[in-house]
Amino acid sequence: MNSPGTSKRSPTRIDRILARELFDSRGKPTVEVELFCSGGSGRAIVPSGASTGQYEACELRDHDARRLGGAGVSRAVQNVLSEISPRLVGQDAADQAEIDRVLCELDGTVNKTRLGANAILGVSLAAAHAAAAAAHISLVDHLHQLWKPISVSIGLESPAASQPTLGAPGLPLPMVNMISGGLHAGQNLDFQDFLALPVGAPTFRQGLEWIVDIYHALATRLTAAGYEGCLVGDEGGFGPRLGDHEQAIEFLLAAIEQVGLRPGVDVSLAIDVAATHFHTADGYRLNCQRGELWSAGQLIDLFDRWTRQYPIVSLEDPLSDDDWDGWREITMRLGGRVQLIGDDLFVTNGARLRQGVENRVANSVLIKLNQIGTLTETLTTLKMAFAAGYAPVISARSGETEDVTIADLAVATGAGQIKIGSVARSERLAKYNQLLRLSERTEWNTWLGKELWRFRWNGAG
Ligand code: PGA
Ligand code: ZN
Repeated sequence: MNSPGTSKRSPTRIDRILARELFDSRGKPTVEVELFCSGGSGRAIVPSGASTGQYEACELRDHDARRLGGAGVSRAVQNVLSEISPRLVGQDAADQAEIDRVLCELDGTVNKTRLGANAILGVSLAAAHAAAAAAHISLVDHLHQLWKPISVSIGLESPAASQPTLGAPGLPLPMVNMISGGLHAGQNLDFQDFLALPVGAPTFRQGLEWIVDIYHALATRLTAAGYEGCLVGDEGGFGPRLGDHEQAIEFLLAAIEQVGLRPGVDVSLAIDVAATHFHTADGYRLNCQRGELWSAGQLIDLFDRWTRQYPIVSLEDPLSDDDWDGWREITMRLGGRVQLIGDDLFVTNGARLRQGVENRVANSVLIKLNQIGTLTETLTTLKMAFAAGYAPVISARSGETEDVTIADLAVATGAGQIKIGSVARSERLAKYNQLLRLSERTEWNTWLGKELWRFRWNGAG
């Protein structure tokens, strides 16, 4: 079907859409879409989570036990070829909002369960890549053009939203996974990621270099202490069989000091607790504490203590995605001095984020494209976060590929923070390397890491 405004000769007219099944960093099948316009083509590969939230858009898998353990995505691929392609050929790939509207309409379900968010996101992102190629501009420029005009009003605007730097393009602060637990590393620790943030770095490159030094120092220390120093989890963080969480924090602090940096000044810490994944009907079950059941209040007490005792400035999913009471309490107690990121809680979903803002829950939101399923919806949630004064963090998934779109997205939108994983495994480094490339361009190289970092460790306790 041709859209009336798109002449056959327009370089961004969609001519053909291909899809195929490839493999991600865990050797799991995933969808790649390649979209051809008259003036150029583009392609995108969809990532996949392990500690997924129950409210995420649907990742359509074959569930055919005869092939690839049932994890095949041939149905999603087929949906691109037989349903989406005929509907979008002739449309304008540069009109991202319309492409994404058509995709959602064609699917017709709330959580993209019919066509699959993996099929839909592949097409949505491939359209952006192709439109950029056809216009002979880089992806980051194209994404910035899409980002700028999006405006949202949620009626709950925060004074922080008027800060001029928010949402202007620039290089994000990397939140880098150093020690992994939870579903990403054999569940030896209950909490999923222990991260380092180069908050005091003068530039993005310097910050990343610090992180690389710390990573290698940590490997040496873990090995010397008799742990499996170089075995890494899904995101490249080390997965040693430590006895408890505080040991992970202490190892990390020692590694920072070993390379001559100051914890809390040059490099701060963050934890992705991913609490949804050890939450049971009876409470939070901590294997590290011999299977004890903890209440939300006890967890909050622990985080209150830790964020005073250690330079921990950010906590992600400190409570489960249905524990709104716990979230309200932790926001009240810690929200003024600690970044509280909703990942499973918000699932990049505008409606859930709005609910969070209305209930004064969290003060930051993780942004993952495949949690919601289209580029336009992702940009809208991101704008909503800025409007509400919630700090956005662009994030990869634990199952990733060589696709680096999120690096361009983080810079184009000036999100301010990015969480890709560690500085090992090429699906992670591909994105850091793209950020380094972008840092060479003066129009994009404003370092937002320092400027945007709102929560500084107060050194108390
Ligand atoms: P996931 O983990 O991609 O396995 O969901 C990432 C995260 O929890 O932030
Ligand atoms: Zn998370």
